[in-house]
Amino acid sequence: MSACAASLGISFASAAPALMPWPAHVEWHEGELPIAAEFRVRIAGHDDARLRAGIGRALDRLEKRTELNFGPRYATEGGTLVVTCAAAGSAIPRLGDDESYTLEVRSGSAELRSPNVVGALRGLETFLQLVEARFDVAQASRLPAFAAGCVVIRDAPRFPWRGLMIDVARHFQPPEVLHRNLDAMAAVKLNVLHLHLTDDQGFRIESKRHPELPAVSADGASIGASEEARDLRARANPSAERPGHHSGDVLTQEQIKALIAAAAERGIRVVPEFDVPGHTTAWLASHPEIASAPGPHAVARRWGVLDDVMDPTLPETHALLESFFGEMAALFPDEFFHIGGDENNGKQWNASARIAAFKRERGLATNEALHAWFNQQLAVLLAQHGKRLVGWDEVLHPDLPRSAVVHSWRGPESLARAAQEGFAGILSAGYYLDLHYPAADHYAADPLPEGRAATPLAAERDGAERSPRPTLTPEQAARVLGGEAAMWTEWADAQNFDFRVWPRAVAVAERLWSPREVRDVADMYRRLARVDELLVETGVQHRAWPRFEGFSAEDATALRVLASAVEPVKRYRRPQIQKGGADFPLNELADWAHSESRPAREFAERLDRWGELPAAEKRAALDGVLAPLAAWRAAATQVAAMPAPTEFAAGRNETARRLVTLCETAGKALRAVANDGRFAAEEAAQARELLKRAAQPTAAAVEFPFLPALERLVAAAEVAR
Ligand code: ACM
Repeated sequence: MSACAASLGISFASAAPALMPWPAHVEWHEGELPIAAEFRVRIAGHDDARLRAGIGRALDRLEKRTELNFGPRYATEGGTLVVTCAAAGSAIPRLGDDESYTLEVRSGSAELRSPNVVGALRGLETFLQLVEARFDVAQASRLPAFAAGCVVIRDAPRFPWRGLMIDVARHFQPPEVLHRNLDAMAAVKLNVLHLHLTDDQGFRIESKRHPELPAVSADGASIGASEEARDLRARANPSAERPGHHSGDVLTQEQIKALIAAAAERGIRVVPEFDVPGHTTAWLASHPEIASAPGPHAVARRWGVLDDVMDPTLPETHALLESFFGEMAALFPDEFFHIGGDENNGKQWNASARIAAFKRERGLATNEALHAWFNQQLAVLLAQHGKRLVGWDEVLHPDLPRSAVVHSWRGPESLARAAQEGFAGILSAGYYLDLHYPAADHYAADPLPEGRAATPLAAERDGAERSPRPTLTPEQAARVLGGEAAMWTEWADAQNFDFRVWPRAVAVAERLWSPREVRDVADMYRRLARVDELLVETGVQHRAWPRFEGFSAEDATALRVLASAVEPVKRYRRPQIQKGGADFPLNELADWAHSESRPAREFAERLDRWGELPAAEKRAALDGVLAPLAAWRAAATQVAAMPAPTEFAAGRNETARRLVTLCETAGKALRAVANDGRFAAEEAAQARELLKRAAQPTAAAVEFPFLPALERLVAAAEVAR
């Protein structure tokens, strides 16, 4: 790093270390602090077990990275890293806790100061990101030395609510997945784990008061498989008992307590979500008496917006919710309690004479009014337990108490509207990781953008109009608490969960922590590439996927290369192509492909850069841009010849054949342009036709992210004519 990359504030030199989220204030200085076996930490202020545990985890990762052994780790005098906390802070983190810290790295030692332990944990993560390998070129040494650049960092988050929502209901995510994701979250300063615990396809938490609720979702290895649970299940709803069909596992209360404790250790809140009154087929499987329609009700195996919904007019519904929410309110210490509230299509409410009569009696003109009435009851119930209601943006209604939090998912407009109407809000529109959008798209979505609203992905999906965000007063803007990256798991199981979330969630983490002005996309990708690697230290398995079950090592290698050239189709187009439900094996090309393929996007960038070169330089640079094509073509040729016993495998092979043709076409176009600056007319026409066909998804439900760049190349060659 250059001495006078000594940039103040949020600006940074391109060679600056890959800090992410970028801190609020960074001031580089000359020199560096070497990291050697003598590295010691001295605790100069408040000292407690949580701080020691955090330092322990940081040093474990540092030892692994540097292959050093720090021995005793702590010093009572001197010390390489001096940590001074003023106080313990909240043992169980709360919204708005101070997470600030200052970190000063000098060539002799470093100093980390914070008002509380959580601030110190945030600062430790920054310190870990500062430590980089230095290769001594002069000595041609292959062993790196490690050092942290000298710097003064004063840091604090822009938003207090920075979450990751994990849907454990569709595909169960066991405790080990959740725990390692906590570590990855902490590494990028996310501070809320939102657990989506119940849905149509599963009821994933143990209830001691109502063991029958999870019983219908449990399998042979879980608590719900006990004789007692099976009996309860059978008695509650015989139609829910379908041998060989189970929705997987359930989190026990002990596991939840351990998770909350681990989260608190890392300065992370845990917010539970029990989605009501819709998305409740798994409730109705054991409690058909609270359904709006007669049934039969069985835990769903297919995805989508189902008709099943609780009947909010029944005393039995309120009694069950009062009892179960009471139990859960005691289990989860956080002040916020998410009740979902999304996607009730209203069909069953419209069809019920009982519900129609209730609405008439109460003067509730619409289903929205009935939903709002229901939410008011829930808000009162939760308030009795000291909880504030959080709901997806469908809950936004003038009658909702102003203590409620609106969670925007259909578009950012509801966040602004909520803030204007006096509600706190959080943003997930633009942060849906399961839509397979690139990190840059998530990065562009800002809970409080300047001027126009960020791209409302979900609204776009629903065909809604994009509208400018109204300007908020400072008081209204202060109600915008932050946001959450959201990972719905219809198409992600425990084995590929990490692969879908990381590293793209880091772009969201930065958007929520760093100043708004930090938004250089190229620099974000530069830093994301390094954080992607560092995240491995936290235990997340995002680089371990894919599994390629049932393939030889050689075929798996070819499939891996093919997968690197494609991405899953965006938004929710996959289910339109591949009809799959809870039993879908998630072992197809769309599962092996990263949501954002680095090789494919780098190839596209290279193509564009090459296209802008002066004619004389194009030929010299030709081999560099052709290079990935040879590898893709070879792998795709191999895959195209593999047996294709299923429709999806046939789609995979068709994708491979298309890649072969695309590689050939790209090669032809590149060579033609390099040689005489143009592409023969009939060849260009053929190429255009081919690109058009390649843009249509195959049964493999993937797309080629570099197609637009290839189109630009062909168009440029034609213009040159
Ligand atoms: C949602 O995606 N239905 C909240």
